[in-house]
Amino acid sequence: MGDIAPSFAFHDLAPSQESFRDAVLAGLGRDPKTLPCKFFYDARGSALFEKICELPEYYLTRTEIAILDRFAADIAARIGPHCRLIELGSGASHKVRILLEALDRPAAYVAVDISREQLRRAAARLAADFPKLAVVAVCADYTRSFVLPELPGPDGKRVGFFPGSTIGNFEPRQVVAFLSDWAKLLGPGGEMLIGADLKKDPAILNRAYNDKAGINAAFNLNLLTRINRELGGDFDLDRFAHVAFYSEAEGRVELYLKSLAEQTVVAAGQRFRFGAGELIHTENSYKYAIDEFRALAAVAGFEPVHSWTDRHQLFSVHYLRRT
Ligand code: AVI
Repeated sequence: MGDIAPSFAFHDLAPSQESFRDAVLAGLGRDPKTLPCKFFYDARGSALFEKICELPEYYLTRTEIAILDRFAADIAARIGPHCRLIELGSGASHKVRILLEALDRPAAYVAVDISREQLRRAAARLAADFPKLAVVAVCADYTRSFVLPELPGPDGKRVGFFPGSTIGNFEPRQVVAFLSDWAKLLGPGGEMLIGADLKKDPAILNRAYNDKAGINAAFNLNLLTRINRELGGDFDLDRFAHVAFYSEAEGRVELYLKSLAEQTVVAAGQRFRFGAGELIHTENSYKYAIDEFRALAAVAGFEPVHSWTDRHQLFSVHYLRRT
């Protein structure tokens, strides 16, 4: 590895503070109240999410890693040499290392994430560990359209990598719009590797999002801490509680923050009234059977190439190709 200088570029396309403010004002002004889950990930929220990934109840992360480990050679063979891998919501860039180690001479790795400092650290570490790889970090909200910077390296296949079942945090119609955008960005021959959580016994899901250590609760409540800090809010965290449950009818885990009393809260310069027991809807986490997910991808112009799962059918990794 020694004589090749690591290649690392950083592009900052992060949205302004304004969009958090707008989203909070719009969401708390609605009936029923909502807050978008993408704002969970400030520095503390990202650290709490890393902790969730290690919880005994939260099977998603370790199961996906086990699938990637077990089938890395098969995945790499299907992708082929000199690919340019684009990871959306790259976080600490742990999982991609499994792929990068298995792939045949990958040309470039583009990490896209909203969490600026974590992105910078993770991409710099990766560039040091894989000195033959061109590493590009793009600080951006990948749920909105943004322009992908010029990709370095030979013009190999572009492969989007979207692990972690983050796709489950989109509404199904957003999944179609998101994948359609990526079909365009990846270009002809483009492929995607996507992790999606499977439908299963609701008891397993309810445990995963209501862990004994209370980390999911801290993660959810941190949204209010963030509003207090960044938007001059006065939410009293002892007067709100974390609520999470699987809805069979909707095929999703729903997260809420429940007001424990009648109260008025100031946020972003406005007053909001809460009834006792009133809910703020903060997240949906959809769970898809293999065929359900393939059907959505087909609407967006992707055909299934292969899907890998674990022995207990908890989680799936889909490999899709642009039709
Ligand atoms: C990031 N995403 C896949 C997580 C999930 O499971 O839907 C976010 C999360 N919400 C609560 N716990 C974890």
